[in-house]
Amino acid sequence: MKFYARQSINESDRKAVDDVLQSDYLTQGPSVGAFETGLSKFTGAAHAGTVNSATSALILAYKAVLFQRGFCQGFGDICEKDGHRALIWVAANTFVSTASAARLCGAQVDFIDIDMTSGNMCLDHLTAKLEAAMYLPDIVVPVHFAGVSVDMKRLSELSKRYGFDIVEDAAHGLGGFYDNKPIGSCAYSSAAAVSFHAIKTIATGEGGAVFTNDDHLFELVEGLKSHGVQRKAPMALPDSSADWAPWYYENTALGYNFRMTEIQAALGSSQLERIETFRTHKINLAQTYRDCLANSVVTCLLTDDAMSAHHLMPVLLPEDITEIKKIELFNYCRDGGFQFNVHYYPVNDQPVYADKAGLCPNAMQFYQREISLPFHMDVMPEQAANFAAHLLSFFA
Ligand SMILES: Cc1ncc(COP(=O)(O)O)c(C=O)c1O
Repeated sequence: MKFYARQSINESDRKAVDDVLQSDYLTQGPSVGAFETGLSKFTGAAHAGTVNSATSALILAYKAVLFQRGFCQGFGDICEKDGHRALIWVAANTFVSTASAARLCGAQVDFIDIDMTSGNMCLDHLTAKLEAAMYLPDIVVPVHFAGVSVDMKRLSELSKRYGFDIVEDAAHGLGGFYDNKPIGSCAYSSAAAVSFHAIKTIATGEGGAVFTNDDHLFELVEGLKSHGVQRKAPMALPDSSADWAPWYYENTALGYNFRMTEIQAALGSSQLERIETFRTHKINLAQTYRDCLANSVVTCLLTDDAMSAHHLMPVLLPEDITEIKKIELFNYCRDGGFQFNVHYYPVNDQPVYADKAGLCPNAMQFYQREISLPFHMDVMPEQAANFAAHLLSFFA
């Protein structure tokens, strides 16, 4: 068992992809629309727009929100209003793209420390930072770490009090719930971005989606994801029954090509049908890990089984674990037949954010202690029990 995470592909997935390969469209055909309809139904969000990654989804969501707030006129590079750069605050315990997507939009980035019990953005830290801030953020980005939602009601109250928008980085979250609503419903946010990267809760290889309940925001996202080009250009044709020439398009804003292919979308629809099967399997695995690691030196984080998307199985090692010991543990586990991964080195401590180094001590402590155990469809509960026993034998 080499991997800590892995896609699960079955015969229906293969058939869905093969059907597309034999069809007329590899891109911009019916499968993308069908997947988007399925995603929107699944989450309850009014709109779901597929893209080629969650990183692209974050860029589009940030850009669209900032445009609505009066920044980025014309979608150029300069993201300023009244002499101020746009400001986006993100959770420190995340993959780099939560922050780099913001910088790529021309915004400034700052970081919020995390809660050690969940790995999620600490809302007490956020409140203190908001109270002390000279410039308030335009967007705050919670990350639903491992699939467990941030307290969105409390975050939403803060957003109203301090006037920021919320864009959820829900890369880990599809399949999970908050307040009995699916993650991605955007009940408490302007938009949410999910990932369909190979190891996420459903896989399209690479891929992602933006969810929103805001019609205008969705229009901006759809325009930006496809070159900023509109097909229904008002080019009236005198003496013709057609309103416009069918081949005509207009470039109304600067845009990207972030589109998903038909091949990915067909795979995505097929995977979405099995998302509950994936989650049920992982709920059982999580319980096995928890039973085997109970009252030990290793602390499990995933506790809210009913709600979590169960993307990762994060555990915390003893407080006194060192980097050298953790590398020894990695090799010990590999020799025992399995791999773990670590999520995440705090983004504020990455070299590109040199002026933010050391800003989030909890996130650094979390990184030092965290490992993510093998957690996918090919891991059976008996194997998980063996991995847990092997892990504990290192500390015996
Ligand atoms: C929290 C988080 N945000 C964003 C991303 C970016 O996702 P993608 O690889 O689809 O661009 C990831 C992927 O690892 C992630 O884990």
